[in-house]
Amino acid sequence: MSETASSRAASLAHLRRDGLAKGDPIPLPLTMAAIFHNPGDGAGYSQYGRYSNSTWDAVEHMLAHLEDAPCVGFPSGMAAISAVFFGLLKSGDRVLLPSDGYHATRALAERFLKPFGITYDLRPTSTFLDGGFDGYRLVYAETPSNPRLDICDITAVAEAAHRAGATVVVDNTTMTPFGQRPLDLGADVVVAADTKAANGHSDVLFGHVASRNPEIIAAVTGWREMAGGIPGPFEAWLVHRGLETLDVRFDRMCSSAEEIAKRLKNHRAVSGLRYPGLEGDPSHNLARAQMVRFGFLVSFELASEGKAEDFINNCTLMQAATSFGGVHTSAERRAKRGDAVPPGFVRLSVGCEPVEELWQAIEASLDKISG
Ligand SMILES: Cc1ncc(COP(=O)(O)O)c(C=O)c1O
Repeated sequence: MSETASSRAASLAHLRRDGLAKGDPIPLPLTMAAIFHNPGDGAGYSQYGRYSNSTWDAVEHMLAHLEDAPCVGFPSGMAAISAVFFGLLKSGDRVLLPSDGYHATRALAERFLKPFGITYDLRPTSTFLDGGFDGYRLVYAETPSNPRLDICDITAVAEAAHRAGATVVVDNTTMTPFGQRPLDLGADVVVAADTKAANGHSDVLFGHVASRNPEIIAAVTGWREMAGGIPGPFEAWLVHRGLETLDVRFDRMCSSAEEIAKRLKNHRAVSGLRYPGLEGDPSHNLARAQMVRFGFLVSFELASEGKAEDFINNCTLMQAATSFGGVHTSAERRAKRGDAVPPGFVRLSVGCEPVEELWQAIEASLDKISG
């Protein structure tokens, strides 16, 4: 029987069940160890904390269950992205990146790939297929893109990029495996910042790489071992705990975002609203075809920097904070972080608050800036 989102969610909390001996704790024990008892031939046993840790194994097992693919954990989303770049690329390679995705991915390419002779080009997500993929060793998509929420057709990108001989990577941070399944759509690699909804409590940074290609998994694992960018066991333990409720949180956040996007669009203070789940959004038809849910991020414009700051700061059920995917609704004026967006552009991350109360707080704050 093939797995569905529900069947994956149902078995997620019971993954440890088969390995339990009588008297073992049901919740995951935290293994804080740099060294392990290792007399004689140590082959097959944990030896040193840069190579293995049973708390990582448990969180990677959960992520692998969700992705339906082997996963390797990292101490942040950027560490996962770096492992893909530095594990797979060599001097002379060319990479295609989104011009409108998370800014640090472009900065990593500019500051650290370029000096090693790895070149890169940028293309907007909404026209990512235009121009084809000839000459690229790696094609890296972020869909929906952060922060404008444009999307590209993962299946079409994977088919065309594979014909050109490229490896296809998708940053699935904004969607999680419950919202979109790039590997099932033909991508070779998923990278994700589990710092966001996967952990969900805004108290830890974490990332992972997922792939069904054993050579890719070996390359990023080797990078982790040699570069030493390993997740801390306590962080892994927190992410394990967060993942147990991802299905419930993500469901609430996406359902609320669908409702709030509709209402925001009709408010007189709001323009340029983007949400892939809204009929009429430029991304909607493709989103319906390739996404399982439409996500919890909504973006829109307010008249000015001052109005956007006032809206965020005055809303009683909203945190003024960067990042997204937490249980608390949060928002940020993205021009503040250097994104190429108007000064009043707001990225809203809808949290787990009951939707009517959340909308009342949002509407009250919008009414206040509308005068
Ligand atoms: C789409 C996307 N990818 C990757 C990252 C990097 O994740 P981290 O901050 O955990 O390194 C972020 C962070 O905001 C992001 O939004």
